[in-house]
Amino acid sequence: MVSYKELGLVNTREMFAKAIDGGYAIPAFNFNNMEQLQAIIKASAETKSPVILQVSKGARNYANQTLLRYMAQGAVEYAKELGWEHPQICLHLDHGDTFEVCKSCVDFGFSSVMIDGSSLPYEENIELTKKVVEYAHQFDVTVEAELGVLAGVEDDVQAEESHYTKPEEVIDFATRTGCDSLAISIGTSHGAYKFKPEQCTRDPKTGKLVPPPLAFDVLDAVMEKLPGFPIVLHGSSSVPQEYVDIINTYGGNLPDAVGIPEEQLRKAAKSAVCKINIDSDSRLAFTAAVRKVFAEKPGEFDPRKYCGPARDEMTKLYKHKIIEVLGSDGKAE
Ligand code: G3H
Ligand code: 13P
Ligand code: ZN
Repeated sequence: MVSYKELGLVNTREMFAKAIDGGYAIPAFNFNNMEQLQAIIKASAETKSPVILQVSKGARNYANQTLLRYMAQGAVEYAKELGWEHPQICLHLDHGDTFEVCKSCVDFGFSSVMIDGSSLPYEENIELTKKVVEYAHQFDVTVEAELGVLAGVEDDVQAEESHYTKPEEVIDFATRTGCDSLAISIGTSHGAYKFKPEQCTRDPKTGKLVPPPLAFDVLDAVMEKLPGFPIVLHGSSSVPQEYVDIINTYGGNLPDAVGIPEEQLRKAAKSAVCKINIDSDSRLAFTAAVRKVFAEKPGEFDPRKYCGPARDEMTKLYKHKIIEVLGSDGKAE
């Protein structure tokens, strides 16, 4: 058993309370490799932003859970070396799907876990979430739960609406599970294709897709039922068109990729939404930078010469999110 406290990590309780009071959101960035982690820590240290490092099942399979945890431990020291005296770094399990995986992360030094029972029937979601909360809270590890199903690109609009979080369920769910934060479904979804072209309009000047707005009425209703309760938004990448264009210019093929407009995330960050999950944008930044180097310097074969620019691009992206979208800069001096 390793306590995250010995590793210099923090849980989400205090960061969320401050974020709600202060009208900003904490960035939750996924990481799978060293370059992403370096970029996240550099951006957070330079802006003095609290940060959540997220580890998904895909990341655990790709990089190994043990190695990722040691990397996060190293990240605390790296942050201090960068001059961040009191780093506020949370190590979080993203989309945990069983009690066992959540327990193994709690036992191994994670400071926060998500149990995603959103695809289960309501009562089963409650039962599983409650079990994880009871275990995690013994070690002061915070727990994120999910209610409502994030839309998949294959769903039609009708189906998406019926998967939004039902505000009438949230009091019962939060009370019976004891979860510390709640991920809700208001129209975001994972990946770089968040909406089908037929759900969007087209900007007549650029020809780019303009997605429909998020369901802020659902968010408002949830906040009314659970005043001051930490709300989480998954699937919150904006899919910057400049990265999509670079990727497509240099041999990629991402037709009609579309994300959540930044102004909608800015609005959400000012509300009880205090954790905003971003993964795809980092993948796009990395891929755009690598494709550019490959196209412009075909003789290059030193991975540092293309992973380095990718890391720089991701650092720029993370700083932009922190300062211009979430407003979490300067909140962890
Ligand atoms: O929740 C989705 C995250 O972007 C993680 O994705 O399972 O491919 O690592 P992944
Ligand atoms: P994006 O695919 O929009 O980056 O969402 C990531 C996420 O929600 C991770 O849990
Ligand atoms: Zn997610």
